[in-house]
Amino acid sequence: MVAVQKDYWYFLVLMMPLCFLKDSVQMKAPESTVILQEGMILDCLCPWTGQLTMVSWTKKSLSQPLAIYHPQYGTNFESSYDGRVEFLKTTQMDGSISISNVTEDDIGQYHCSLQTYPQGSWTKDTFVENTAITTTISIQPDTKLVVAENDNLTIKCDLVHNGEVLQVSIEKLNIEEGSSNIIATCQMLSEGVELNEFDSRGRVNCSDAMEVSLHLTNIIKEDAGFYRCNFSTDAGVQSTTVLLTTLPAQDLQGLHYMLYVYIGGGLVAVALLMILLVTWLNRMKRKREDYRIKLHPAKRQKWTYQPHE
Ligand SMILES: *[C@@H]1O[C@H](CO)[C@@H](O)[C@H](O)[C@H]1NC(C)=O
Ligand SMILES: *[C@@H]1O[C@H](CO)[C@@H](O)[C@H](O)[C@H]1NC(C)=O
Ligand SMILES: *[C@@H]1O[C@H](CO)[C@@H](O)[C@H](O)[C@H]1NC(C)=O
Ligand SMILES: *[C@@H]1O[C@H](CO)[C@@H](O)[C@H](O)[C@H]1NC(C)=O
Repeated sequence: MVAVQKDYWYFLVLMMPLCFLKDSVQMKAPESTVILQEGMILDCLCPWTGQLTMVSWTKKSLSQPLAIYHPQYGTNFESSYDGRVEFLKTTQMDGSISISNVTEDDIGQYHCSLQTYPQGSWTKDTFVENTAITTTISIQPDTKLVVAENDNLTIKCDLVHNGEVLQVSIEKLNIEEGSSNIIATCQMLSEGVELNEFDSRGRVNCSDAMEVSLHLTNIIKEDAGFYRCNFSTDAGVQSTTVLLTTLPAQDLQGLHYMLYVYIGGGLVAVALLMILLVTWLNRMKRKREDYRIKLHPAKRQKWTYQPHE
């Protein structure tokens, strides 16, 4: 709200003396999302031709603009961004900036506002988000498993695959770093299935039918996460992912208890709803009967009158 008002104010101050007000427009470009990272670029490239009068960058949590650029007067930065922000100026109408030495505090909504001559104001919103949030959302596991710590668990890679399987790999994904650790591969050779294990955590079993399973004993917290199996077939690579969630040993009982509470609560809610519905239906029925009683004589009269018309 404040940012919009400010834009409007800048817009008026800059454009009024130029008497171009009737030709000027205020354009809002589609918003974009940027992952928080070192040297991240917040793009604000105006497609118009003309002259740049001023660029200002504001952030939702800051009362002052974090960065301002003016072709004659130069740049000005808010103290927490001073020395970290650079205007890229790749073209005449470029308001894009890069931010270095980033911290979690840089997450948030940014607003770029470009004042141009003669077309007016051009604005764009950019959302800076954390990697962890966006990537976990983008991976949808095919299977979800919940296990208590200290328990044993077998993760099976069962994928209905097309074609003949030449190799199966199982890996653990490291979402935060965008990397993965390969646990084992099973390779189909003419003399049989060859297993290669690269990680001592867990025991892998490859069957002759190329069914792969990973057996984990005494589950620890660090076992939680995404596991992916790739089936390399003559028809291409097909993958399946498993999300493993671990719970502290005593919590699983707590979970069961919660589940009972939920189910119990649910039943009570359903019963209450039924009672409400039945009462409501009864009331509606009674209302309709009242209505019919009122309507009936008139209706009959109309019918008896009609043949005499
Ligand atoms: C950015 O980080 C580098 C190295 O960590 C440091 O030398 C530099 O002073 C920092 N710059 C700012 C503006 O904080
Ligand atoms: C898990 O497996 C180990 C070794 O196979 C065994 O000693 C242990 O009792 C098992 N734990 C549970 C909870 O089944
Ligand atoms: C691998 O799994 C098969 C069947 O799923 C089983 O018969 C076999 O004993 C397992 N091998 C090992 C080493 O656990
Ligand atoms: C598994 O498949 C994915 C996507 O096709 C690929 O990015 C990844 O590198 C593969 N992993 C292995 C261990 O081959």
